[in-house]
Amino acid sequence: METITLTMIKPDAVAAGNAGAILGKIAEAGFKIKALKMTQLTISDAQRFYEVHKGKPFYESLVEFMTSGPIVAAVLEKGNAVADFRTFIGATNPADAAEGTIRKLYATSVTQNAIHGSDSDENAQIEASFHFAQREMF
Ligand code: GTP
Ligand code: MG
Repeated sequence: METITLTMIKPDAVAAGNAGAILGKIAEAGFKIKALKMTQLTISDAQRFYEVHKGKPFYESLVEFMTSGPIVAAVLEKGNAVADFRTFIGATNPADAAEGTIRKLYATSVTQNAIHGSDSDENAQIEASFHFAQREMF
């Protein structure tokens, strides 16, 4: 069954000029782009997006980093999209990420870890609606 996931190419990877290469790898891996944009999160956007982490020691630095520059947000479709995409991007901490994964290739720290992927089908829907109007998803 085709399902969706929501990704953000994070400010570190966009600033380093890696957004195009990452989108190419996403397409090569069989994910179909259903929505795509470059945007920049406001502080309140990032606080809302990462509300589940509120109160954790890294929350403030996560919000600061995610608002520090433009990101590329996309809705991706594939069979088993959420789990397959998380395998494709690698572990949260790039030091633990498998060879060939996006985070192994492009992340520089657990905060500046290049890319986001939704963690459940339910959150994928919520996160897709967070970034895109219905008429922007194809
Ligand atoms: P996302 O795809 O970005 O959601 O990453 P994830 O699902 O692999 O990790 P999680 O949702 O648990 O955390 C969200 C983000 O918070 C991570 O991508 C990290 O940038 C950051 N983060 C999570 N855990 C830690 C931590 O222990 N230390 C620091 N400094 N940052 C963390
Ligand atoms: Mg997460």
